[in-house]
Amino acid sequence: MKKIVILFSGEGSNLENLIEKLHNKTFNGTEIKIVAAITNNPNAKGIKKAQNLEVNTEVIDHKKFSNREEFDKELVKNIDELEADLTILAGFMRILSPVFTKNVKAINLHPSLLPLFKGADAIKRSFEGDEKKGGVSVHYVNNELDGGEIISQISFAKTPGMSYDEFSEKIKKIEYELLPDAAIKILT
Ligand code: GRF
Repeated sequence: MKKIVILFSGEGSNLENLIEKLHNKTFNGTEIKIVAAITNNPNAKGIKKAQNLEVNTEVIDHKKFSNREEFDKELVKNIDELEADLTILAGFMRILSPVFTKNVKAINLHPSLLPLFKGADAIKRSFEGDEKKGGVSVHYVNNELDGGEIISQISFAKTPGMSYDEFSEKIKKIEYELLPDAAIKILT
């Protein structure tokens, strides 16, 4: 059996998708369990989504810590206690210090074709950019923001006249395939 911890900060649609696709399911003979969903944001909509799907949720509010490292220490402690084999960042909006990146095996989902458009507002910047393609990446987390080794990517053509909503919908759809597939690939 392999254990996953998911970190999220907001809407939690990828969190919900991961639970639906992976939790308590067996892939290539390996059972996967999502042992906790942890958020830094007490108001994250994803909390309800995880609870509805009967996954244990925890809030570790970053505002209650005096600095980044103290918050990261608490995160690492929780992830260690849960004995996670893999931690998945699904819309987790915090920069992580080496306290985290050196101690936790983690992957992140990013809505662009990395190394293009690292950081915030990637969907908007990628939509407005001159590139003929958009895409989604899953990569290992290291101490460079959105800069760790790429695990998998899917791209799509920006069609003439494509609206921003169509572009973001396409990204969401790809995210819902790419992230669970990457987790399965790593854990089984
Ligand atoms: C996703 O687009 C992901 O690529 C980015 O944050 C967004 C999270 O959305 N890192 P949701 O909270 O899973 O709906």
